[in-house]
Amino acid sequence: MTYTPAADRYSKMTYRRCGNSGLKLPAVSFGLWHNFGGATAHDTKREMCQTAFDHGITHFDLANNYGPPAGSAEEAFGEILNTDFKGYRDELIISSKAGYHMWDGPYGEMGSRKYLISSCDQSLKRMGVDYVDIFYSHRFDPDTPLEETMGALDHIVRSGRALYVGISSYNSERTREAAAILKDLGTPCLIHQPSYNMLNRWVERDGLKDTLNELGVGSIAFTPLAQGLLTKKYLGGIPEGSRATQDSSLDAGAITDEMIASLKGLNDIAEARGQTLAQMAIAWVLRDEGITTALIGASKASQIVDCAGAVSNLDFTEKELSEIDKFAGDKGLNLWATSSEDV
Ligand SMILES: NC(=O)c1ccc[n+]([C@@H]2O[C@H](COP(=O)([O-])OP(=O)(O)OC[C@H]3O[C@@H](n4cnc5c(N)ncnc54)[C@H](OP(=O)(O)O)[C@@H]3O)[C@@H](O)[C@H]2O)c1
Repeated sequence: MTYTPAADRYSKMTYRRCGNSGLKLPAVSFGLWHNFGGATAHDTKREMCQTAFDHGITHFDLANNYGPPAGSAEEAFGEILNTDFKGYRDELIISSKAGYHMWDGPYGEMGSRKYLISSCDQSLKRMGVDYVDIFYSHRFDPDTPLEETMGALDHIVRSGRALYVGISSYNSERTREAAAILKDLGTPCLIHQPSYNMLNRWVERDGLKDTLNELGVGSIAFTPLAQGLLTKKYLGGIPEGSRATQDSSLDAGAITDEMIASLKGLNDIAEARGQTLAQMAIAWVLRDEGITTALIGASKASQIVDCAGAVSNLDFTEKELSEIDKFAGDKGLNLWATSSEDV
């Protein structure tokens, strides 16, 4: 069936300027890491993308290795671009990344110029696009000079493969170095993509959040829902079909009685605010202008509708914030809870 985007889509979403740049991003962005591989029906993927766009979510985040199998999320998204989003390319912000293992041999991962540029070309081909809006170095590579990795990002922009560049999971110190190199090259660092949620606050401990504000670099917080923990999903234990039952990225062992008691406490606070727990978790990440956008994932369209609704209340009282800290004062859950240099 032909898809026509909702006419009122832009009135439903809040847009925030990404750092000092001219680019605005939706307060909620949609990532295709999970549930976009071979195991998910194409119609479900289409419905999620359509629902996101209908709610003003203009930013779709991908990476070379999203699937499984690696590459299949970009292929599926390419098909959706070609069917449902044909004619809307200029209304979309599409990102991709390279850094994690993608192909065998010495050129299939990390931060060399060889890997980043080849991988970017592969991503463009899989998605069937001429350029991506944002291309990231997915992780810091201690064995490649930062000048080489940043030089490759600069080349990717100058050669027309991307409009902007970003870095993901770099710590505060490396971020300063990377941003300085990019500035000298004339391709400013648009955005940083770190993990961040109520249970994982490494960006505060590390000083990254302050650094990004100081440098005027925007940020997109991934796993704002702690992979689903910060939703109503696990309040009664681990439900069948949830991420915790499916793969090792969300450790079911982390969902202890103590964790569930904390989640229930957080859920009570969310209800008192007139929000679902997912909405409050997203609002918390966005509570000050330090984070530009919350990068959610989903397994069904209704979750995206719920998450997009977070923008109707992004303000917290001091009392609410301190009550949240009693239940979620950085539980130290290791869900990408560090910078890529520490893993
Ligand atoms: N840069 C990096 O290194 C990196 C690493 C990881 C992720 N990311 C990016 O961040 C994106 C988001 O990551 P994530 O999927 O872990 O984020 P998340 O938003 O923390 O978790 C998404 C999961 O939460 C559950 N969920 C979402 N909305 C819900 C709702 N309203 N009610 C109940 N449950 C809900 C779903 O779980 P079920 O599947 O159980 O239904 C969904 O799959 C990725 O797609 C990717 O783009 C980047």
